[in-house]
Amino acid sequence: MIKTVEWTDAGVRFIDQTKLPTEETYVTCKTYEEVADAIRTMIVRGAPAIGVAAAMGVALGVRNSQAPGLAALKRDLNHICDVLAATRPTAVNLFWGIRRMKDKFDEVSAQPIPEVRRALVAEACQMLAEDIAANESMGKHGAGLLPSRGSILTHCNAGALATCGYGTALGVIRAAVDSGKKLHVFAGETRPFLQGSRLTAWELLKDGIPTTVISDNMAGTMMRQGRIDAVVVGADRVAANGDVANKIGTYTLAVLAKENGISFYVAAPFSTVDLDTPDGSQIPIEQRSSKEVTHIAGKQITPDGVGVENPAFDVTPHQYVTAIITERGVVRAPYNESLRALAPVETASK
Ligand code: MRU
Repeated sequence: MIKTVEWTDAGVRFIDQTKLPTEETYVTCKTYEEVADAIRTMIVRGAPAIGVAAAMGVALGVRNSQAPGLAALKRDLNHICDVLAATRPTAVNLFWGIRRMKDKFDEVSAQPIPEVRRALVAEACQMLAEDIAANESMGKHGAGLLPSRGSILTHCNAGALATCGYGTALGVIRAAVDSGKKLHVFAGETRPFLQGSRLTAWELLKDGIPTTVISDNMAGTMMRQGRIDAVVVGADRVAANGDVANKIGTYTLAVLAKENGISFYVAAPFSTVDLDTPDGSQIPIEQRSSKEVTHIAGKQITPDGVGVENPAFDVTPHQYVTAIITERGVVRAPYNESLRALAPVETASK
């Protein structure tokens, strides 16, 4: 399995997603500031992966802290968490991961400081293992929704690279293929960062799953031609009413899917569900550098001085979502009720 995120004695190790697919290189972050930079620059990306990366960043920062006592260590912890929380605003997993580390700190703070440090590292490693297990469970729940033969469209990368392994949307596809289904994947290119053509294509080909890259503007015509049997995507944040924030371009696909009578599935763990956010209008959308649009592989492709917009995510209203596949089962509308009914107790009771 691809090791997207890994705790090592030297620091937190990531496969460098800015270099794929042409170079498979790894980066070891030795400080929490380096982890924050890796998240910001998308060396590591994808909602579940950045949640665990942030948790490991917290563990690393606390491990490296020279604080002489518990009160000073807590001040350091809060600062470390603030730095990591300021990296990317949309994926709620980031804040979930940080919250969980703060809670663990409070839970173990009566213990000697070396124990507190050990407990935080153990918690972050536990989150990594839980993420893989959640993805495998999502795969089992979602595989049955896909046809026994056909083509599935996915957008961005919601695979092993976006998680700690196996993937959410790609986990569902992997599980369906493992169960004997004959599936072919259309990977939308996903301008401007090209997660689809660079990352999804790379990891699916590694697994031997037949994959065709299409540019984002081809999807509508292909749906109309009957060449797409279902759409499966991941999510960065699911609001309480089932509105879904995901990579820019997801909304377009969802509307096109509905227009063409094609099922549109979202695969996401509960760490991506934000019951505190009532609907998608409240989800902060990250604006990224214009250079991601004006340049491809370092080469300028637009005239100097042109205006550029680069929102990294959009919101798909819940009425376009056929079902949400979680590690606890598949939920359908009305999402306000179905999500809360399956949510872990501590999330549902908020
Ligand atoms: O900007 P990115 O590459 O971090 O965006 C990732 C996505 O939008 C994914 O679809 C989402 O995080 C789900 S990953 C399982």
